[in-house]
Amino acid sequence: MGARTLLLVDDQPDSLLACKALLSADLPGCQVIATTDPEEALGAARTAPIDVALVDVCMPTVSGIELCRRLRAQRGPAAPFPIVLVTAYDSDAALRASGLDAGAEDFLSKPIDRVELVAKVRVMLRIKAAEDELRRASAHLEDVVAQRTKALRESEQQMRQAEKMAAIGELAAGIAHNFNNLLTPILGNAEMLKSTEGLIAGQAAMMVDEIIQAGWRASDLVAQLLTFARKGRINRGPVDMQQMVREVTGLLRHTVDRRVDIRLDLRTESTSVIGDAPQLESALLNLGLNARDAMPDGGTLTFTLEPATLDESDDRHLRTQIKPGRYLHLAVADTGVGMNEQVQAHLFEPFFTTKALGIGTGLGLASVYGCVKGHEGGIEVQSAPGRGTTVHLYLPAAGVPQAVVAQTTQAPPAAPVGRVLVVDENTPVCALVGRVLEQQGYAVTTCASVSEAVAEYARRAREIDLVVLDFAMPRMDGLEAMRRIKAVNPDAHVLMTALHDSQEAVSQAFSEGAIGVLSMPLEIDRLVETIARYVRLSEPSGAPPAPLVAALSAGGREPQG
Ligand SMILES: Nc1ncnc2c1ncn2[C@@H]1O[C@H](COP(=O)(O)OP(=O)(O)OP(=O)(O)O)[C@@H](O)[C@H]1O
Ligand SMILES: [Mg+2]
Repeated sequence: MGARTLLLVDDQPDSLLACKALLSADLPGCQVIATTDPEEALGAARTAPIDVALVDVCMPTVSGIELCRRLRAQRGPAAPFPIVLVTAYDSDAALRASGLDAGAEDFLSKPIDRVELVAKVRVMLRIKAAEDELRRASAHLEDVVAQRTKALRESEQQMRQAEKMAAIGELAAGIAHNFNNLLTPILGNAEMLKSTEGLIAGQAAMMVDEIIQAGWRASDLVAQLLTFARKGRINRGPVDMQQMVREVTGLLRHTVDRRVDIRLDLRTESTSVIGDAPQLESALLNLGLNARDAMPDGGTLTFTLEPATLDESDDRHLRTQIKPGRYLHLAVADTGVGMNEQVQAHLFEPFFTTKALGIGTGLGLASVYGCVKGHEGGIEVQSAPGRGTTVHLYLPAAGVPQAVVAQTTQAPPAAPVGRVLVVDENTPVCALVGRVLEQQGYAVTTCASVSEAVAEYARRAREIDLVVLDFAMPRMDGLEAMRRIKAVNPDAHVLMTALHDSQEAVSQAFSEGAIGVLSMPLEIDRLVETIARYVRLSEPSGAPPAPLVAALSAGGREPQG
């Protein structure tokens, strides 16, 4: 312990000097600051680290009690030090009480007894030293905790970064592996085709077929990755989920073991959503196939559809990070092997799979996730090892009447007939769409100007079954063009083609009565199927004319013209 400093304050110089002399003699290791002036005492305590102060209570300018209060109040260079008030021998209890109140630790009576003085100062010095030590230890502890917390935070950040890098590495490896598998037949067959020598009849065509198939598989892979990244093309139309669940379960019944009992629990009449039918269909199929794989010895696979209104108090919207509102809740539940927490933590990562090489690509749930998020929906998985799995999807409810919603995977009608008005300011595109539809048997009128098209529609509104309208024309916004056509006939059926896919614009088109939106560049077979289905539904013998549908099965596989 270094030198200790004592502060003595007494307005009477004699008694001050006597006290100082006693302390200097009996406590030689101590430095004593003695003053008759309370202000000087306050100044000393501001500049020097004091260990103990002895303060006379009776002083004319500032009372000892007041000085004690002020010494306590001011922050000096050292931590608080004990203060002993020196009182007259007969001072009353009230005075002592207010001394304690002002922050004094103890009292000494005048005339001062030498032994008592030294004993009391020693005790106070010990208390001060113990308190200093305690403060040092706790400050050190705080330092250590702060350092450890900082280190922990840094290592957490590094871990997160490492996990991110690992996920990206996994993604890159997954893409590389899958594309390598597809490049092998493409390059191998192409090399062999370079010289046709030695090829037997039909072999070349077979090789070309293999190349094309690998190309399409690559394109599927890209589509799945894009769905995950939510960068895919937007094709939106009313989709009847009940119908879709029936179709998907129909397909699954052909592919799953007979020991898997597939059940439907459809608890709602209104099951429409505005969505991309092929994407939604492939999401349902993925969930069904995962359930199948989880039940190698059979079990029960249940698809449940029910309306779900998620209000502020419903924590499902928080867990799935969607806006409160009206949703269609689809639950796909199996009684299979279930998943542990570690698997669940990586479930939606692209290329995450627990299946054997060549069996699973690990893109199934990644694309389901992207699809659901792209539909502004939510997804949640409940699972435990040995206890089965339920995947919950929440898709914004569309509120489209059931009857008007198109089927999703029905074959297009065999011989379509109908009258279509194609409007596109881009003349070559307009002509191409017209030619394609004419080839399919439609009576087509093409207009490269909106005003011409509106005039044409006004003349023949009763005959024209469908208007195909470009969303983004240079001279007139497609929405505005649709409004003009609807001004002639509010029931006009308008199918829009959109170059710039914006969810907002698509929603706007639907809210103003478009029957569907297809992305540009147009997939011709999709356009043809959409129109065929529409015209069939509008036929007098068929269902009553009804707004319809952009989203159909992705079926077609020919390169698009
Ligand atoms: N219903 C389920 N029951 C148990 N485990 C599941 C279920 N669904 C998914 N999983 C687990 O999640 C993993 C990832 O599923 P995901 O569908 O993304 O890929 P995959 O099925 O392995 O391959 P892919 O779907 O590309 O053929 C699976 O490998 C499996 O371990
Ligand atoms: Mg899967």
